[in-house]
Amino acid sequence: MQEPQTDTLHFRNALGRFATGIAVVTTLAPEGGVLGVTINSFASVSLEPPLVLFSLSQDSRMLEPLLEQLRFGISILGSEQQHLSEQFAFEEHPRGYDEADIDMESGQVPLLVGALAVFDCRVQQVLEEGDHQIILGEVERFEFREGDPLLYFQGQYTWLNSR
Ligand SMILES: Cc1cc2nc3c(=O)[nH]c(=O)nc-3n(C[C@H](O)[C@H](O)[C@H](O)COP(=O)(O)O)c2cc1C
Repeated sequence: MQEPQTDTLHFRNALGRFATGIAVVTTLAPEGGVLGVTINSFASVSLEPPLVLFSLSQDSRMLEPLLEQLRFGISILGSEQQHLSEQFAFEEHPRGYDEADIDMESGQVPLLVGALAVFDCRVQQVLEEGDHQIILGEVERFEFREGDPLLYFQGQYTWLNSR
């Protein structure tokens, strides 16, 4: 057995054995516009009440706006949306994004057009743990469509039946 403290790279590789989907968390920027961060730490927590969570790096420029707004959107990406995952994983700010990719229909929380599922959430609790914050959100509204997901495994994008 290896120890995570002494073998960080292998620890990351071990964590990468858990295949996930990809989502983009979005919130309104204080100066206007949209902030988005690609995540694969999304998890469902509870049906009643409807709760979901994700973990956000302590260094994320989204942390402060998110804690101010107390609202965020989660868009689960479909198989043809890898470009959005790459776009919102880009660390340079302000990020360029295409207005046509953003749905502001609710007026309160931005969501990504064409996502496989979207969740409009209110922050319920924030847990500071290690180098990330765990953001627990209550889902107020959601929508989904049929389609295949964009997947992530061992540090690479993958697709259903691609192996
Ligand atoms: C596949 C993938 C999954 C990621 N998952 C997370 C995550 O769960 N939490 C997180 O904070 N960053 C995650 N990141 C990194 C962020 O997307 C990236 O660091 C961020 O966009 C940087 O901008 P920021 O300073 O606004 O956070 C992930 C990146 C990729 C490519």
